[in-house]
Amino acid sequence: MTGPLIATNALSKGIHREWALPNPTLGELWKSIVMDEVQKTQLLSQAVVNFTVRPRVNRSILPLHGVILLVGAPGTGKTSLARGLAHRVAESFSSCRMRLLEVEPHSLASSSLGKTQRAVSDLFAQSISEAASAGPLIVLLDEVETLAVDRSKLSLDANPIDVHRATDAVLVQLDLLAEKYPNLLFIATSNFPEAIDSAFVSRCDLVMEIPLPNREACRQILEACLHGLANTFPDIRKLTNAPRFGDCVQACEGLDGRAIRKVVANALAATRETATDPNRVTIDHLLKAITDAKANRPRQGKRA
Ligand SMILES: Nc1ncnc2c1ncn2[C@@H]1O[C@H](COP(=O)(O)OP(=O)(O)OP(=O)(O)O)[C@@H](O)[C@H]1O
Ligand SMILES: [Mg+2]
Repeated sequence: MTGPLIATNALSKGIHREWALPNPTLGELWKSIVMDEVQKTQLLSQAVVNFTVRPRVNRSILPLHGVILLVGAPGTGKTSLARGLAHRVAESFSSCRMRLLEVEPHSLASSSLGKTQRAVSDLFAQSISEAASAGPLIVLLDEVETLAVDRSKLSLDANPIDVHRATDAVLVQLDLLAEKYPNLLFIATSNFPEAIDSAFVSRCDLVMEIPLPNREACRQILEACLHGLANTFPDIRKLTNAPRFGDCVQACEGLDGRAIRKVVANALAATRETATDPNRVTIDHLLKAITDAKANRPRQGKRA
């Protein structure tokens, strides 16, 4: 496995990690996310267009900003897809060295007036700009709703002016970077698209909703997880051939991909015996773990 290029403490403020691309670790992430192949191809193609078309076509003809936004419920694989996408794009341009920077928006927020705006401006105008001038670059803006807050929904508590200005700064910087660096691609993710400023969404070249897995996807995720475990605990493999495996798949419907993988972990923890020797886990343990997870799910509320 190949890890990130630079340790977090050596990076500029707001940059959480840096990867050299392509990177097989990120390629595994792309493969691990079970999703409609048509949707995956569309995502990859849009990202490739950013590097084939944007540098060669005037913005007055095609006003591309180099931003792709992935939205969807928590645990649907958005961050994994974004990282994997960076790898797949770099694979398509094997002759040039690309890099991936991961931005950590929460580290930019400050309670003192003006500081968030400055931190956001510094991140885009200095750190990202410098990196983009060194060569083709992909930037992951995870949980972008914390950076590009919907200005129309700001209330008067908690420094609204600063948050307002920080969003303004993001938009101004996106416009400047889009003009200056055609070989720069932002991949943004959010669980709360309704909390993102509409001017940011308007700048996105593609907004893609990442859905909850359908029944076939649930089956594939469950199988991938159990087969992966079977590399270490071989008896687990038999669960996918059990007559009631179909019931487990059906029961998974409505869960996100993260939750499906977690119910497998819960099944391993069903008894002291299974915890000690996971080879002893049964289809009943799995079914009960899924049923419990669904029964205990908190009702999804929307963040203001
Ligand atoms: N469609 C899927 N297929 C396979 N695995 C999935 C899928 N969706 C999620 N997972 C698994 O769930 C875990 C969480 O994925 P990830 O962090 O990418 O989700 P996310 O959408 O970014 O979540 P959040 O919105 O909470 O940040 C990963 O281990 C991932 O492999
Ligand atoms: Mg995420």
